[in-house]
Amino acid sequence: MFALINLSYLTAAVFFILGIKGMTRPSTAVRGNQLAAIGMFVAVVAALLHHQIVGYSTIIAGMLLGGTIGVWLARRTAMTSMPELVASLNGIGGGASLTVAAGTWLTAVAAGGIQSTAWTLAIVVSVMIGAVTLSGSVVAVLKLKGTLGDSRHSRQWQAIALICLAAVIALSTVFVSSVTGSPGLMLGLVALCLLLGIGLVQPIGGADMPVVVALLNAYSGLAGAATGFVLENQGLIITGSLVGASGLILTAIMCKAMNRSLPNVLFGGVFGQTDQSGAAESGNEFYEGKVKYSTPDELALLLDGARNVVMVPGYGLAVAQAQHSVKELASQLESRGTTIRYAIHPVAGRMPGHMNVLLAEAEIPYDQLKDMDSINPELPQADVAIVLGANDVVNPAAAEDPGSPIYGMPILNVHKAKTVVVVKRSLSPGFSGIPNSLFIRDNSLMVKGDAKDVLQATTTALKEL
Ligand code: TAP
Repeated sequence: MFALINLSYLTAAVFFILGIKGMTRPSTAVRGNQLAAIGMFVAVVAALLHHQIVGYSTIIAGMLLGGTIGVWLARRTAMTSMPELVASLNGIGGGASLTVAAGTWLTAVAAGGIQSTAWTLAIVVSVMIGAVTLSGSVVAVLKLKGTLGDSRHSRQWQAIALICLAAVIALSTVFVSSVTGSPGLMLGLVALCLLLGIGLVQPIGGADMPVVVALLNAYSGLAGAATGFVLENQGLIITGSLVGASGLILTAIMCKAMNRSLPNVLFGGVFGQTDQSGAAESGNEFYEGKVKYSTPDELALLLDGARNVVMVPGYGLAVAQAQHSVKELASQLESRGTTIRYAIHPVAGRMPGHMNVLLAEAEIPYDQLKDMDSINPELPQADVAIVLGANDVVNPAAAEDPGSPIYGMPILNVHKAKTVVVVKRSLSPGFSGIPNSLFIRDNSLMVKGDAKDVLQATTTALKEL
């Protein structure tokens, strides 16, 4: 039976790897997801066959309770709040590793069955990473929701994190070298690691939260792998390592997309979502009398003569839920012989792949989606680039203003298109809270309004031409 269970875990791991590979491209992502789900099913069945399980009634009760909460959460979460959901799930993963490791240790202490220094080390690592992931994810969720501000006491929190880290290293060394540890030491370790998680995430700015969430995802995987060693469960070790490795790769990709190094994100202080009122004020001065406004009717006229149009979706497109409206306008233009492409920035929206998921919902053909590196050289040939609720990812300050907080972040070069039309509701800044010089460029027009309303009005006007 033991060999069969391990063979099943290996089979599940193969499905996971094929699943992850499938998810690297939009066209194969659904299949990848299905393969990963099959892998998870195999792994769950194998785990249920294990002779050490608590009892089926406990497991069924847990699955019913967890499943109900999961379905409830997923149903009530709007697409725009997906990062908060992902961050919560990371926290739950970390919390699960923490409680399983601590619970296993308590049971072993009660039975007098502490096994070895290596086993105690696995317990300590699992508790440490699990607790940091749990409290760090709670702070990340509150920051993404905007409940927790960024700018206050960041230096103090960094100092607290440093002190906690030193104390955690000291306490865990004592714990492991004593082999058996003690409940007091365990409690102290958990409390310090929870505080460490808060201290690590609190000083980081809201705009860097996507990177932090990806990193916490990697942590939750590593905590799971450590718990696999605690339980001697090969399936958990493999799955946790896969999550840890893919989370680290995603973190590296996102840092590259924002032109930041990981140490700069983690210890570089606050970036983004600082004082929005100040930003709005300075924004008003910045734009005064320099923005040229247009209307959906004029946009329709402009598009009527365009042969090459690039749509640039951003967070506002998700807020407006305008994915079907952009498809309708695109179809109308295509029927007149216009070439349509969608420019996708890796951190547009509020979660990795946000724009891909949004546009896939409207069944926009995958081959029309172009990533930043492939669309940027083609943007100077675009007759019209329509910026739909995007802001930071098209801000030329990132390339031109060394004093800008987003300087160095790669952007979509829409300002190089022959004409740029920006669709948004006001002159409010994007996530980073800074003005956007794109709006005052000579080749730039702004159509004020909700993205869905503007797109629908433009399509109607175009049909009448
Ligand atoms: P943002 O810079 O956040 O700008 C979004 C714009 O959408 C706003 O300026 C807003 O202006 C407009 N908007 C909101 N609702 C709208 C509606 N109903 N209709 C039309 N426009 C609307 O978005 P972005 O360019 O996609 O950049 C993403 C930013 O979020 C980056 O700074 C990135 O670092 C950060 N971030 C990314 C992620 C990931 S992983 N993608 C996660 C968290 C944070 P109005 O209010 O004037 O309409």
